[in-house]
Amino acid sequence: MEEEERLIAPDAQPAETGFELSLRPKTLAEFIGQPKVKENLSIFLEAAKQRGEPCEHVMLYGPPGLGKTTLAHVIAREMAANIKVTSGPALERVGDLAAILTNLEDGDILFIDEIHRINRNIEEVLYPAMEDYALDIVIGKGPTARTLRLDLKRFTLVGATTRISMLSAPLRDRFGSIFHLDFYGDDEMTAIVQRTANLLNVAIEADPARRIASRSRRTPRVGNRLLKRVRDFAQVRANGILDEQTVALALNALEIDPRGLDETDRRTLRTLIEKFAGGPTGASTLAAATSEEIETLEDVIEPFLLQEGLLARTPRGRMATDLAYTHLNIPLPPNRQQPLV
Ligand SMILES: Nc1ncnc2c1ncn2[C@@H]1O[C@H](COP(=O)(O)OP(=O)(O)OP(=O)(O)O)[C@@H](O)[C@H]1O
Ligand SMILES: [Mg+2]
Repeated sequence: MEEEERLIAPDAQPAETGFELSLRPKTLAEFIGQPKVKENLSIFLEAAKQRGEPCEHVMLYGPPGLGKTTLAHVIAREMAANIKVTSGPALERVGDLAAILTNLEDGDILFIDEIHRINRNIEEVLYPAMEDYALDIVIGKGPTARTLRLDLKRFTLVGATTRISMLSAPLRDRFGSIFHLDFYGDDEMTAIVQRTANLLNVAIEADPARRIASRSRRTPRVGNRLLKRVRDFAQVRANGILDEQTVALALNALEIDPRGLDETDRRTLRTLIEKFAGGPTGASTLAAATSEEIETLEDVIEPFLLQEGLLARTPRGRMATDLAYTHLNIPLPPNRQQPLV
């Protein structure tokens, strides 16, 4: 199945941009969940405001759809700052980044999404920019080349990544703080679904909201998307009423199981169990056997399966846990060693 077609893929899909924008919490107070991140971030921002300085550079990392882009905008709003948005892959030449940097005003936020995908030679421009608010430009070539140092305004870089491990140490070290977003709890997800329902003018009780939340991979983007699909279902099949029964019917029609797994998740686990005796198997082998990109497997599929205790990462590769066998109704082979989760 193409990634674009996955209803519960946690990464954004092209047609969603407008819908997502309208649902984004704008302030820290509106942002649900991630209490530790929120608390530390609010102290961090408040301290900078009291000193009348731009805040230090911030790195946000975590699986797709948990609110990194949302938080970058929240930071700008809380600092009453302008935000300029770009991404690692969009910066093709050193000149692209230099142009952006020289146009920043005092206190501006520069948000670089997917910062782990920035080119090494472009990344090096960021070092003095982040450390000294300076841009080093090389003029001329060969032995007569000179560097010219331009002063930049005092800006704040906010970086976002799904893969902190792919960030080089020199870049990582230049961030004043690094915040890790984690999967949301059931109550938080329920509150997010209810908040979105409000914004969409849809009436929904706590129980059906909780049911949608429980199938959303603990990911707000997925919760919002499921709610929207369930609303469509209710509108066509049930006079627009989102009660327990309609929600249950809609979720079953969408083939999302009670743990929130879809066919891609189940296929990944089933392949691991049936073709590789439950593992251990290397990620690239597993990706090839399921016709997924390795990045999709590692960034999108695995984090949730790991979090749910259905998959284990061992030094020798990925293993299906006993819970995965039970969940898929596959009998456990005799003498099986349960991997440590
Ligand atoms: N804490 C939250 N409360 C309410 N809604 C949220 C929260 N976090 C995220 N969302 C919603 O989820 C959607 C996805 O969030 P966002 O785009 O910030 O994720 P992301 O981490 O940047 O994902 P990606 O890695 O794909 O860029 C947004 O539309 C937003 O409305
Ligand atoms: Mg994002």
